Amino acid sequence: MANRQGPIIFSAIEPSAGLKTALDKGRPGTIAEVRNSGLKGRGGAGFPTGVKWNLAASARGDRKFVICNADEGEPGTFKDRVLLAEYADLVFEGMTIAGYAVGAKEGILYLRGEYAYLRSHLEGVLAARRENGLLGKGILGKDDFDFDITIFMGAGAYVCGEETALIESLEGHRGEPRNRPPYPVTQGYLGCPSIVNNVETFAVTPHILAKGADWFKAVGTDRSTGSKLFSVSGDCERPGVYELPMGITVAELLEHVGGENAKAVQIGGASGHCVPRKDFSRTIAYEDVPTGGSIIVFGPGRDMLAVAKNFMEFFVEESCGQCTPCRVGNVKILECIEMLEEGRCSIEYLNEIIELCRTMQVASKCGLGQSSPNAFLSIIEHFQDEILGRVHVCR
Ligand SMILES: Cc1cc2nc3c(=O)[nH]c(=O)nc-3n(C[C@H](O)[C@H](O)[C@H](O)COP(=O)(O)O)c2cc1C
Ligand code: SF4
Repeated sequence: MANRQGPIIFSAIEPSAGLKTALDKGRPGTIAEVRNSGLKGRGGAGFPTGVKWNLAASARGDRKFVICNADEGEPGTFKDRVLLAEYADLVFEGMTIAGYAVGAKEGILYLRGEYAYLRSHLEGVLAARRENGLLGKGILGKDDFDFDITIFMGAGAYVCGEETALIESLEGHRGEPRNRPPYPVTQGYLGCPSIVNNVETFAVTPHILAKGADWFKAVGTDRSTGSKLFSVSGDCERPGVYELPMGITVAELLEHVGGENAKAVQIGGASGHCVPRKDFSRTIAYEDVPTGGSIIVFGPGRDMLAVAKNFMEFFVEESCGQCTPCRVGNVKILECIEMLEEGRCSIEYLNEIIELCRTMQVASKCGLGQSSPNAFLSIIEHFQDEILGRVHVCR
């Protein structure tokens, strides 16, 4: 773990300093700086941002797109909302830097339907940037760099946060994930090379350009550089949005938020993992317990089966229904939980459902079905005393 502490995203930055540095460095230099920083996507999957930008930059196509994923549908996540409400300039500057780096003229902010109230504020920030020569033609006097951003409203489907479903939705189709490959970096929106990045990923890039890859890397771990925004909710004294170094332990995080009493913490939202108290020395990092930012704290009084039920109800509702493992599997897990609640589930049936979970993890078409059994599986594994006591035993 590196020793410099202190915020990155929430640190002071001169307006446009990142964009100016990018234009000075040139396209390959900008991508190299982002690559050297080790920045990994903040949306959850943790794909290296510099690698993604490089793939889009080298993809063939006269028209390319930069798409900001502001769908923020993961239960327990609200850090992108804070960035859009209070740091929109930084997000748009990050998108502009990305546009320059990959050779795109068009940027789209895909805004979660429930965040419609932010739209007029965001349009105002965009208008001010146009007036100040930071969007539009010949940005900051650079004749060969035109770039502008439009806002597209999502309609509240969780699956539309998955990047290919998001692109389908942008194209006016049902929000259903595509087969991959091809990946969006070569064939994305309207068949053109497109990068899709999370709001936080864009917000961090002006800092990396302005202050350098080494400054960024001085926080975090070797494989998870920088800091991360965490949306903390649940049974703790100080819920909210925190910026903390990558590689922090669960116990350290709980100290910050006043949740030392917790019996478990759900890291990564409904699709993440439930970490029990005995594992609070584990670190929050891509190489250990990854998260897109959602941290839900469960106090000693929580019924973990009820927690699992809540998550599974969400997935039954949000599965797009395109593939069988996810469409049917989530319903079966939820039924099993209800049988456990009513004392009607045998150990044999529970084991069958655990097998089904493993099948879903490998056979589902997209990340939703691949990760929806995670919470149930980790609760079964770590809270056997609570769960097995509810299994039906034939006498
Ligand atoms: C079901 C599902 C929902 C997702 N929702 C979001 C989301 O709301 N925001 C987001 O940035 N990424 C979301 N992702 C991840 C995106 O597919 C994609 O990996 C991400 O936007 C890439 O940006 P990043 O590299 O900056 O993290 C979701 C993935 C899945 C499978
Ligand atoms: S895994 Fe679920 S959400 Fe993803 S394509 Fe299949 S049915 Fe749709």
